[in-house]
Amino acid sequence: VPHSQEADRSVGQLIDDDPARGLFRVHRSTCTSEDLFRVERERIFERVWLYVGHDSEVAQRGDFVRRTVGGRPLFFVRGTDGRVRVFFNTCTHRGALVCRQDQGNANTFQCFYHAWTFDTQGELVGRPGREGYSATCDTESLALRSPARVDRYRGLYFMSLDPDIVPLNEYLGPVREWIDLVLDQTEASWEVLPGTNLYSIKANWKLMVENTVDNYHVAPTHATFLNYVQTLNDGTATRAKGALGPFDLGNGHAVLELGAPYGRPIARWSAMFGEEAKGEIADLRARLDERFGPERAHRMAECIRLILVYPNLLLNDISAVTLRYVEPVAVDRMDVTAWALAPTDESAAGRQRRIDSFVSFLGPGGLATPDDIEALESCQMGFAAREVEWSDVSRGAGMEPFISDETPLRAFWRQWWNQMSPGPQPTVIRAIPR
Ligand code: FES
Ligand SMILES: [Fe+2]
Repeated sequence: VPHSQEADRSVGQLIDDDPARGLFRVHRSTCTSEDLFRVERERIFERVWLYVGHDSEVAQRGDFVRRTVGGRPLFFVRGTDGRVRVFFNTCTHRGALVCRQDQGNANTFQCFYHAWTFDTQGELVGRPGREGYSATCDTESLALRSPARVDRYRGLYFMSLDPDIVPLNEYLGPVREWIDLVLDQTEASWEVLPGTNLYSIKANWKLMVENTVDNYHVAPTHATFLNYVQTLNDGTATRAKGALGPFDLGNGHAVLELGAPYGRPIARWSAMFGEEAKGEIADLRARLDERFGPERAHRMAECIRLILVYPNLLLNDISAVTLRYVEPVAVDRMDVTAWALAPTDESAAGRQRRIDSFVSFLGPGGLATPDDIEALESCQMGFAAREVEWSDVSRGAGMEPFISDETPLRAFWRQWWNQMSPGPQPTVIRAIPR
């Protein structure tokens, strides 16, 4: 990792933000420079809250899941005491990965190298050849280590490597309102459905973040998908009522919210679900009206939301609810992990509709995602023309927000720049207390 001064030289001026001229540009080295990638790890990924996983993934005591977050190998486990803990996945002996399965259930974790054994609370409980260690050598300090901070919001677990970071609630701030609009859709709890979409994209991770909250690309990029949806639907896209649109939520969080162009398992019927689904969906819809009143219920049922939880968690509430975690692997490569979230009290038919939507539209082999992957890889290839230094993100700059402007992208980039820019690191926290 470069020292600060060296880092600052490579950082330079990367964002050109000039509202008076209606201009916003991003220097393409943000997505191509190895140096910046290292600085980014230090200044962004070590100073934010990063998504680790969902409560339901470790429902039973001893359940564990392995994951890489911010470049760190981790696993999280529900201890025999019922508490969920996150550990760095490295043996305190000489470093081997302690957890070598993606998920499972265990009472202990035994390192395969020299067979040190840890319990579900991370304590070192077994060391072959104990007599070979001095009696004064304590085992407490050899327990598995955890990230500086671990916290959760409504079943979503996050970790931070920064011991001084603001509490998670404050960090999330206004974006909680949009997370709630999703999670309030059931009175039961939510579960991550078994099976994970895992795919790699040969592009910088920020391109995926941009893409998710970019409504401008939808019509041209997803023409095939939209035409297909048109043939399945009754032909009427929902007209959103009320003040929806792209929102800059502060702290880099952003959301795109608009009338649904397709059916939603909760709770907008469309012809693609078949006549037999009509009654059930109408009941779900009526219940939302009862619980939240017509205005909020309309928003929950007939509108879609694409939520960016800065910097790299994407919560898509569209034709299904999808969590997407974007992990930077190299400056020009990311790994995407996607899960479908579903209410635990969903009917079998409802669950099937949800899975169909998730797989056929949003999955890596679905009708929409491959278009996006192609676009992101294409941008990354285009960046090799280094003489063209800037990307334009000006759409809607200095104007009233409209649904296909690039406000959410600028929200992301401003906070990114806020954290990356040379000199003292300002912390912009505009959390709305609730
Ligand atoms: S590295 Fe794990 S026991 Fe030696
Ligand atoms: Fe897209």
